[in-house]
Amino acid sequence: MSSAPFPSDFLWGVATSAYQIEGATDVDGRGESIWDRFAAVPGNIEDGGDARVACDHHRRWREDLELLRWLGVKAYRFSVAWPRVLPHGRGAVNARGLDFYDRLVDALLEAGIAPFVTLYHWDLPQALQDRGGWPVRDTADAFVEYADHVSMRLGDRVRHWITHNEPWCIATLGHELGAHAPGLRDPALGLAAAHHLLLSHGRAVPVLRRNAPGAEVGIVLNLVPAEPAGEGEADREAARWFDGFFNRWYLDPLFRGAYPPDALADRVARGHLKSVEPPFVAAGDLGAIAAPIDFLGVNYYSRALMAGGAPGGRGPPEPVQVPPPGDPTDMGWEVHPRGLSELLLRLHREYRPPRFYVTENGAAYGDAPGPDGRIRDARRVAFLRGHLQAAAGAIAGGVPLAGYFHWSLLDNFEWGHGYTKRFGLVWVDYATQARLPKDSAAWYRDAIASNAVPDEPPPA
Ligand code: FCB
Repeated sequence: MSSAPFPSDFLWGVATSAYQIEGATDVDGRGESIWDRFAAVPGNIEDGGDARVACDHHRRWREDLELLRWLGVKAYRFSVAWPRVLPHGRGAVNARGLDFYDRLVDALLEAGIAPFVTLYHWDLPQALQDRGGWPVRDTADAFVEYADHVSMRLGDRVRHWITHNEPWCIATLGHELGAHAPGLRDPALGLAAAHHLLLSHGRAVPVLRRNAPGAEVGIVLNLVPAEPAGEGEADREAARWFDGFFNRWYLDPLFRGAYPPDALADRVARGHLKSVEPPFVAAGDLGAIAAPIDFLGVNYYSRALMAGGAPGGRGPPEPVQVPPPGDPTDMGWEVHPRGLSELLLRLHREYRPPRFYVTENGAAYGDAPGPDGRIRDARRVAFLRGHLQAAAGAIAGGVPLAGYFHWSLLDNFEWGHGYTKRFGLVWVDYATQARLPKDSAAWYRDAIASNAVPDEPPPA
């Protein structure tokens, strides 16, 4: 056993999201979500899959809870499906939809596992999309109502609340690049969506505090450290651009109450905004967005190596992300553990949230059961070891990191990639829904039990 130091109350966990594992999209009065609609369009999902069954977790949740117990996790991060709670987005609560999470929370608490509830992990009720979705301000009001309903029901037991998961993905993948639901390709809509997501977060914070007194409230951002690929000025400029577009666009409003001026200017230069005073920002919004929070959830997967683009065409040269060195994961993402400690140290230095959780970190590898039924996912074990060492390094450097959630408990529906990417510690046989812990699950279990980073995988 090595001795990477984790505090004795460190929250070891795993993360999932409703849409990716639950299935049961038409039971108990659930309404349609934008992902149901998006996945039904041929070409949108790599393998043509959809999430109607996914991991069948809505029915098999007790079995999955047994996996959590076996792992020995101290905390479990999951999301609530808005369309189960409010099938039409607003209005009357569907009690049966909430009952599911009520039972899950009770069972987790009984098992001594702290529930971390994400309110929005991308499954907007389609009815709200029909009225404009995140690019319209009303959706922020609808989110606050939804947060109120869920926290009125669960606020007496849930001590950790997350408003949104990865607003960058929702805004940019969903509204600028068309890769995620609702599949739009309009930068102006993406920026309005980002703003209303942030606004809805800030306005939900006091509501959650009221309904769950003493609970911790935070938000989860996916952050990607950008580094210049080479020495030159153009590459440094490309890295600055990426950091503004991806990271600071969310960090600065949340912690400083302002959009970053250079990133606003970048958007104006590209014609995505008419001026550095965007029309969607109303008086008081930025103050609301900067409501003090108890923690920042960091989803870390990789870094971006940036190079300056070639001039030509209209507007500034588009920076490009260069292919990473080394063997990437099945997502094409570089394995770069050092980036996690550097990122946490930077966030601690520059933004000072009271506390951090790594709310997602993981790798897609397709390792399948061998003839003996065992899944030797040595690359995931190496990934885990490297990133846990990096997390320990950040703690040693003074970062108030209070927990780590591996993505993910189970192989699951990986959005636009369908079932082609396996992030689980536990293998899912989609034909039978059998669950089979991979070597990495046993390794992680060992790490949790010893509160340290084991040197070697546990023996077979
Ligand atoms: C994150 C998402 C999560 C999962 C992982 C691989 O962006 O939050 O749902 O898809 O990536």
